Amino acid sequence: MVDGITRRHFHHFLAAGAATAALAPGIKPAMALETANIIWTFDNPHLTGNFAPIGPEIDATDLPVIAGRIPPDLSGAYMRNGPNPLYKPNAFTYPMDGDGMVHAVYFDNGRARYRNRFVQTPSLAAERRAGRAIYGSFAHPMQIDPKLLHPGDPQGPFKNGAFINIIQHGGHLLALNESTTGFEITRDLDTIGEWKAGTDKPLRLGAHNRRHPKTGALFAINYSHAEPTVQIHQIDASGTLVNSFPVALAAPTMIHDFVLTERYIVLLVCPAVFDSAAAQQGQSFLQWRPAMGTRIGLIALDGSTTRWLDADPFFVFHFANAFERGGNIFIDYVKHESLALGYAQQTQKSPTLHRMMIDLATGKVGDAQVAGMVTEFPRVNDALDSLPTRFVYLPTLTDTLLLSKPPSATFNTMMKVNAETGDVVRHDFGNKIAGEAVFIPRGTNGEDDGYLAVYAFDQEQQTSDLVLLDAARVDADPVAMIRLPQRVPQGLHGNWIPKN
Ligand SMILES: [Fe+2]
Repeated sequence: MVDGITRRHFHHFLAAGAATAALAPGIKPAMALETANIIWTFDNPHLTGNFAPIGPEIDATDLPVIAGRIPPDLSGAYMRNGPNPLYKPNAFTYPMDGDGMVHAVYFDNGRARYRNRFVQTPSLAAERRAGRAIYGSFAHPMQIDPKLLHPGDPQGPFKNGAFINIIQHGGHLLALNESTTGFEITRDLDTIGEWKAGTDKPLRLGAHNRRHPKTGALFAINYSHAEPTVQIHQIDASGTLVNSFPVALAAPTMIHDFVLTERYIVLLVCPAVFDSAAAQQGQSFLQWRPAMGTRIGLIALDGSTTRWLDADPFFVFHFANAFERGGNIFIDYVKHESLALGYAQQTQKSPTLHRMMIDLATGKVGDAQVAGMVTEFPRVNDALDSLPTRFVYLPTLTDTLLLSKPPSATFNTMMKVNAETGDVVRHDFGNKIAGEAVFIPRGTNGEDDGYLAVYAFDQEQQTSDLVLLDAARVDADPVAMIRLPQRVPQGLHGNWIPKN
């Protein structure tokens, strides 16, 4: 039975047997080599508690519904990606390091089944061969012994872990990191390989991309760690790259997300810049340079024109949505006072949801806080991407979560915020940690006709549930609470993948 398993992997195999024995009846491990529990620990708040990674890759059918019921007409899968380092990292900077692990809950005929798999990247394969982490961290790059790499392996200094997002476009399911190549996976979460977007070489793109509301084209960005430029890609509705052009910046800049309107790509270029000289001196590769201010680029969809507007320095990871209305561009986003990577304690004050208004005639930029609660991971009804929306779904932190000094990105309450009025409706999960909500469309009864899918981790029971909330009545009892067969760590982004 151990044929083909190297001696280096043998102890993983034995550990896998132990993990298998601990699984409940009806839950199958995926592959013996990959079901080993993760036994290392790392003194980093973003690698402990429910941020700690898991090892087992399992399948489970007929998940128990512990409250409510699964809507019988729900057909598709909620998939979510997240950083889940298999080996103890050499260095770790949340949320920029890790190995992608996709957790999927598939719905059909009122039943749910679960599957999780690592994204099988060449970086992870190289570390499996070495039996340890060999790459450095995003903020602290590391030279890699070339003897540990095969031809074609990523040379580092940090890995491409494909852990930030999972999207579907043109029939392709893509696990995405940023400023690097994406990986196509199957609906069963098997890794196919680097995605080429219909070209002859893998396409480098970011994790957050935007679909044009009229053409269905996907717009993507690829920033550079070395050059003062960002590349913009247009990928048609069938998944083929049709246009690509650079936009010049003042410095190599990290741009995690952007927004689109019917006529513009809107880039918020915050002063988070890469500095290789700083990295060589042991400081963070990514530096916060507020004196540069934040610049707002309004770029024609074909790249023919770019107009820059200036704003005071702030940082944004994530946008909820943007749209044009009455000669203005409105942008709903989560505003950070500055860039903070790695450990920071989550407070109940910052960052918060803002709405920006750009007057296209005058270039005047207005900005106002929409709601005062701390938040991140804003989402809207994705069918209205780049079209007018009012409702933003995003988590916040309340004092019903019993956790001292929670690290950043720790939340326990889902909010539905009306960005036009500031009205907030909440669903407090109490002593459970909850992350991003993904909107699952239901009918045609308005912007909020759908469900919100949220993973919630119960700190007392040490169990994870997938909770479905009614987006129209977020404060009501959950539509369904589905018990998962193992802990689902806090991850980053997910999406609803309809059945066909
Ligand atoms: Fe993100």
